[in-house]
Amino acid sequence: MKIKNICCIGAGYVGGPTMAVIADKCPDIQIHVVDFNKERINKWNDVDVNNLPIFEPGLAEIVERCRGKNLHFSTGINERIRKSDMVFISVNTPTKKYGLGAGKASDLKWVEACARQVANNATGHTIVVEKSTLPVRTAEVIKSILDATKKDSERSEIKTFDVLSNPEFLAEGTAINDLLYPDRVLIGGENQLSINALSDIYAKWVTKEKILQTNIWSSELAKLTANAFLAQRISSINSIGALCEATGADVREVSRAIGADSRIGSKFLDAGPGFGGSCFKKDILNLVYLSEYFGLYEVAKFWESVVTLNNWHQKRISKLITNKLFGTISGKKIIILGFAFKGNTNDTRESAAILICKDLLNEGAFLFIHDPKVSKEQIINDLGSKPYSENKKQLNSFDVKGNWEFIHDIDESFFEADAIVILTEWEEYKNINWDLAEKRMRKPAWIFDSRSLIDPEDIKKNDFNFWRIGDGS
Ligand code: UDX
Ligand code: ADP
Repeated sequence: MKIKNICCIGAGYVGGPTMAVIADKCPDIQIHVVDFNKERINKWNDVDVNNLPIFEPGLAEIVERCRGKNLHFSTGINERIRKSDMVFISVNTPTKKYGLGAGKASDLKWVEACARQVANNATGHTIVVEKSTLPVRTAEVIKSILDATKKDSERSEIKTFDVLSNPEFLAEGTAINDLLYPDRVLIGGENQLSINALSDIYAKWVTKEKILQTNIWSSELAKLTANAFLAQRISSINSIGALCEATGADVREVSRAIGADSRIGSKFLDAGPGFGGSCFKKDILNLVYLSEYFGLYEVAKFWESVVTLNNWHQKRISKLITNKLFGTISGKKIIILGFAFKGNTNDTRESAAILICKDLLNEGAFLFIHDPKVSKEQIINDLGSKPYSENKKQLNSFDVKGNWEFIHDIDESFFEADAIVILTEWEEYKNINWDLAEKRMRKPAWIFDSRSLIDPEDIKKNDFNFWRIGDGS
């Protein structure tokens, strides 16, 4: 079974980069990335690759190389499904807001819509690959929708389907590197021929030993488990960071000491403002829902505590900022550096900055928010209110006392500022002109570094009060 035409439904953070890398490595396969969001597709087709809808180091270069040759972006979903022998489902699966499992289970309405669209439009034999992060046994949902169409006697001879689970382990900001040099590629399925067809694609650049084949449920559960384990490490180190601050220890030294133990390993031990991103919280809550569903309440509680600790930790930071600024920040000018959930991405989903900024606004602060890649419109969306200059007379929609502005020039924003809060680890924040900041800020001026980005030596000579995550000294 040799794959010649691929269609990927969903031109987002997962679908876009994944298909770009497959196109680059497999010039003999035609790849069409489709999405019902026309605006997003237009951005993928923008002649200037700096305007792609997502920012990911290395992505623009690949898109420039392959677009129009074997990588195409369009809204022609049905037509592309019809012409493809493999369809990736890479759509969003947010947590359900209402109904059964609200707040925990994933909303599968987009996945279900895709399955129906594939069922109705596919021709011949089609391999359907689940790429979105999905709850365990979603393949069953997809399969039963596809099979229901197969039962239609008129079409039964011309349509056959196989479902594979091929979870994505890429992390935003390093997506291209993660795709080019994966620790492993996981393929879950029942039909060996289909598994081989997908393995052959990855084998163009990944060694055979790294392509793991499992049953479909193990593959789905492995994805949730990997994210739960990673998130658990972050909550663990953030909990220890709080203890360091209370006891005089330094969380960076503790991380280094425990990370040197080869059984623990040194990665994912950086204390920060709490994990964000579209996957961690959602996947853990899925695991919690699944455990509760099967009556495993202790298991559910264990994993839920990882999210509870993360929420508590983010609140802890906003409270701490208020307390250090004499218990009141009403009308005080606070510069927020970074709004994305981590460096090197423009994604703000579940970013710690959202909760922390909302808390500070609720205390009446005037925030000056900077991020090199996140747009003002995105921040308006996330905070639910417009910047002060656009909204002077209106009350903010979530009824806060504070205000905010979006800034491009950090140096200009220093005037009379009371504090600088670093929330995202952008490289450029390492080069802040601290002498200028000190000259222009109101005294006593505070620097809050939630990412251990600043070298304390760099600001020692200036007259700042300095707080750093997990630093009890
Ligand atoms: C994650 C998984 O890493 C990836 O395998 C999966 O496919 C999708 O979910 P992502 O959410 O893009 O990727 O980013 P990741 O690098 O895992 O960071 C998640 C959050 O944890 C970020 O907010 C980051 O700042 C935070 N983090 C990460 C820490 O606070 N400390 C660390 O040591 C590592
Ligand atoms: P992820 O991080 O999982 O890639 P994104 O939200 O970035 O999530 O991308 C998912 C994309 O899937 C969005 O661009 C959305 O418009 C698209 N999408 C969702 N449902 C469908 C559908 N039924 N058909 C086509 N595109 C869809």
